[in-house]
Amino acid sequence: MKDIKSFIAKHVVDLPRSGIREFFAVAANMQDAISLGIGEPDFVTPWHIREAAIFALEKGRTCYTDNLGLRRLRNEIAKYVGKNYGIEYDPSCEILVGVGVSEVLDCALRAIINPGDKIMYHEPCFVSYSPSIKLCHGIPVPVKTRPEDGFSFNMDEVRKSWEPGCKAIVINFPTNPTGGVAEISQLRELAEFVVEKDMLVISDEIYSELRYEGGHVSIASLPGMKDRCIFMHGFSKAFAMTGFRIGYACAPKALIEGMMKTHQYAIMCAPIVSQEAAIEALLRGGPSMEKMREQYMRRRDFIVRRFNEMGLDCHLPKGTFYAFPCVKRYGMSSMDFAKTLLEKAKVAVVPGSAFGPSGDGYVRASFSTSYENLMEAADRMESVLKNL
Ligand SMILES: Cc1ncc(COP(=O)(O)O)c(C=O)c1O
Repeated sequence: MKDIKSFIAKHVVDLPRSGIREFFAVAANMQDAISLGIGEPDFVTPWHIREAAIFALEKGRTCYTDNLGLRRLRNEIAKYVGKNYGIEYDPSCEILVGVGVSEVLDCALRAIINPGDKIMYHEPCFVSYSPSIKLCHGIPVPVKTRPEDGFSFNMDEVRKSWEPGCKAIVINFPTNPTGGVAEISQLRELAEFVVEKDMLVISDEIYSELRYEGGHVSIASLPGMKDRCIFMHGFSKAFAMTGFRIGYACAPKALIEGMMKTHQYAIMCAPIVSQEAAIEALLRGGPSMEKMREQYMRRRDFIVRRFNEMGLDCHLPKGTFYAFPCVKRYGMSSMDFAKTLLEKAKVAVVPGSAFGPSGDGYVRASFSTSYENLMEAADRMESVLKNL
């Protein structure tokens, strides 16, 4: 028999493993380390949502659902998206419920990419975008974002990065890992550009409720954009429901139909218990979400102030639960900086290079941890950085 590894498809062999996982394997084995590396809420899912899941089980709700998701859930999603984002979708055919934004993103990419198609996205970005495009035999086309633009996209960069064959652009505001947001004027410019180039937009709005200054606007709500947008959202972040694995996409019927094929054959449907919990989140989850948002904001103000005081240049993230300070003045790669910090201060942050080459020179520090942990982490970092 040949070497077992030679059975793995070439495009899979070529994919690197996530930089975050590798780094945190080291951090996990260290005693007393404080992790600012976490990419999920430190809050447990609000009780009334957990209770809805338990009640669903008690009622014996243990079957498959419609491939698109429970109709009651799709109705509530349509109401939520209509009310909060100003976009009307038909729950009978324009909404697909999946296993997190991760899955609906994969379905969208698989639905639209022919081998060799190019997909743009702004970078630094969520670790999955580039690999997910490559897994569909697409070509990733990153667009650099910069702190001087608040890590929003810059239209000159978008135009410079565009190449013939670009079929869609993935956007994510507020952005993981930078906390960048896009203002409505910028979204209008981007909308004009995608119309000019006749592209689709995949808009990952998973952090949209966690916007601290200004209101969130979805590009899909701008005139004429709904027809060329796949709006994606989920319950993981704002509702603290990562383990429920539930998310959704809203898009024109033909696109949902295309995405449904992957979803139907690969997944069948999202777990019914999670779908029942998601209905409860949409119906009554607002106040508990607001309380978590207030905590994140208080922690953000603290940690960003402390970073700047200790000499780590850090722009104010206007959304998400991530700060993205610059570490260039220490003259090392972000991986070496993160390793040094872990070793000497026992504080774990994620090297910015895990979010694409343009993330090098930065680290991601999550403030999804207690205020006390943040205070302790800041003290430890300050005493180590003084001597670097
Ligand atoms: C920008 C972004 N999109 C999508 C996801 C995945 O979300 P889900 O849990 O809904 O799959 C994450 C998770 O970290 C994220 O940061």
